[in-house]
Amino acid sequence: MLIDRLGPVLERLGLLAFGFRVYQWVGRLDPRVYFRNRPYRPSPDGIAMPPGRLLMAVAGSAEIAVYLDGGQLAARSIRDILQRNQIEMGDLRAILDFGCGCGRVLRFWKDLAGTELHGTDYNPELTTWCARHLSFARIGTNQLAPPTSYPASRFDLVYALSVFTHLPESAQMAWMSEFHRILRPGGLLLLSLHGAHYISRLNEPERRQFLAGDLVTRYDYSAGTNLCNVFHPEAYVRNRLSGDFEVVDFIPEGARGNPCQDAWLFRRRRVG
Ligand SMILES: C[S@@+](CC[C@H](N)C(=O)[O-])C[C@H]1O[C@@H](n2cnc3c(N)ncnc32)[C@H](O)[C@@H]1O
Repeated sequence: MLIDRLGPVLERLGLLAFGFRVYQWVGRLDPRVYFRNRPYRPSPDGIAMPPGRLLMAVAGSAEIAVYLDGGQLAARSIRDILQRNQIEMGDLRAILDFGCGCGRVLRFWKDLAGTELHGTDYNPELTTWCARHLSFARIGTNQLAPPTSYPASRFDLVYALSVFTHLPESAQMAWMSEFHRILRPGGLLLLSLHGAHYISRLNEPERRQFLAGDLVTRYDYSAGTNLCNVFHPEAYVRNRLSGDFEVVDFIPEGARGNPCQDAWLFRRRRVG
């Protein structure tokens, strides 16, 4: 990827954050994207489409087809991962989409009857859009670091797609404790993470670190944005990140809709 090659150069020049903003601008002003997006107005599912600025911030592309196809695939993937572990979405009373962005996945649950749907994100521009357009979900805004305002044991499932991929280790650990608090005993946590597929994107020292089972973090000072990138070796997730959770399932590159990310399903232990 371009950012892998250009990032270190821009960083040395003190221009990385500026370069990232330019990249986001260029992406949404590309005239080809404008024409490709035209067939999607009005939107096929009857829910408004987020503006290009929000699509770029969340998905790194302002193309509506990328956003919609990816969201639909990700929602299906969540359902399938649960099903292969004998869990039906419809049996869950309350679900939280953590780092919901502009509702890329949430919008595909609008017909899920009998399940309370919640979404939260630390970016108020994204949550304002969701609160306005996804009336079937309860939307909250959290801070970069926990806690949230949800009561203990509130959810049956928390999922966070491509969120820990942009948070440094200390923030991830703090959020794992918060998820533990807000999930009911036996509740489920689904994460998508950059795993072994991404080794080819790492430079030599990063690759060594990854292969030794250590987390690799780039640009941790941009925590929460897509500029900060984090790569999770399987051993790290099993031995460190999982903490008080039991690992229920691990599907390498199995987070469809979040291409090539690993899917991890955890369960909050019933005791402890
Ligand atoms: C790559 S986007 C993915 C968005 C969404 N999960 C999806 O799949 O479309 C990462 C999202 O995580 C959110 N995020 C990052 N750090 C967060 C935090 N500490 N709390 C809540 N949301 C966070 C960002 O604002 C962004 O919306």
